[in-house]
Amino acid sequence: MISLARHSAISAPSLAQGRRFSPLPIIGNVQKNSLSFFKSQPLSPQKPICISAAADTLGPAPAPEPRQPLVETRAYEAADGPREISVQLPGEKAAQKFKIGIYFATWWALNVVFNIYNKKVLNAFPYPWLTSTLSLAAGSLMMLISWATRVAETPKVDLEFWKMLLPVAVAHTIGHVAATVSMSKVAVSFTHIIKSGEPAFSVLVARLLLGQTFPLPVYLSLLPIIGGCALAALTELDFNMIGFMGAMISNLAFVFRNIFSKKGMNGKSVSGMNYYACLSMLSLLILTPFAIAMEGPQVWAAGWQQAVSQIGPNFVWWVVAQSVFYHLYNQVSYMSLDQISPLTFSIGNTMKRISVIVSSIIIFRTPVQPVNALGAAIAILGTFLYSQTKQ
Ligand code: 3PG
Repeated sequence: MISLARHSAISAPSLAQGRRFSPLPIIGNVQKNSLSFFKSQPLSPQKPICISAAADTLGPAPAPEPRQPLVETRAYEAADGPREISVQLPGEKAAQKFKIGIYFATWWALNVVFNIYNKKVLNAFPYPWLTSTLSLAAGSLMMLISWATRVAETPKVDLEFWKMLLPVAVAHTIGHVAATVSMSKVAVSFTHIIKSGEPAFSVLVARLLLGQTFPLPVYLSLLPIIGGCALAALTELDFNMIGFMGAMISNLAFVFRNIFSKKGMNGKSVSGMNYYACLSMLSLLILTPFAIAMEGPQVWAAGWQQAVSQIGPNFVWWVVAQSVFYHLYNQVSYMSLDQISPLTFSIGNTMKRISVIVSSIIIFRTPVQPVNALGAAIAILGTFLYSQTKQ
């Protein structure tokens, strides 16, 4: 059965799938086909969605159980491939919202902790290529252990999956290392102010390279984003061109990551958590030789000794913290994508940047001029307006 429907962000618990490992309670529906929900992608929730009934609902109906979803469907966004939606009983909506709130709070908190420790490490040990590599290595190791011990379900992926993942991983690697290089050169808050401009890159790439068109309000919402970022950059006390360009390159790379993800991964049955795990592993393989070429073991050894002599043994724990929290915040964000619409995710990502900007300014006592703060506020407001224009 094929029909058209408006995409719903709400999903219902699926009894068809067992629980799997998660640092948070698994909310709602099965975590499949999450791959078409990516950060800040220029998707419209108004885009028609083709829905086909799940095959198992076509056979003889089993006896209904209380509080099971009345209808469960798999949704396929037109021309883009499958994505899942399901209809909830009204009483379940409040619990679902509460759980999504927990996901968001956890995602933001983990992200703040990552950013703080990442900057502390980079201040003492300014080797962003190695710290980026360690972040990916920690996540890969954690997930390999989880799969080996069956704490997490091992994904069933084939060669085709890895081929499709490759361009996504290249873009993820570039975006990750560029953001880390940026944070090694400028204040965390400045990197994230520039990164709040990602929707502008998203629209411009979609318009200029893919020929997509958008309603006028979308273009208008880019004005405060671009203007706010420009004002913040021009008035940044600690401006550094490498730091600025790193954040800009990261924005561009993440837009391509979203495009490749959306093009290549639709229809694959991999949970958000496992998808991110595979992405980390492939990115680690890509990044390691470049990290060795850019910095190298000799430089790392000397820098490490210096950092330990300055900071003491705690430095090692800072590195562990930045690596582990990097994986955890990304994992939770990808798990969130299984539960919410791209629009909700985009708003959540903007709120996350506010948390990081404010907390890093407080913790690192970053000097901020009023006009600089105004630029940041305008950019963030623009990002929020952009999200609203997509409704
Ligand atoms: C990274 O290191 O990958 C970036 O800091 C990611 O930034 P974001 O997840 O906030 O876009």
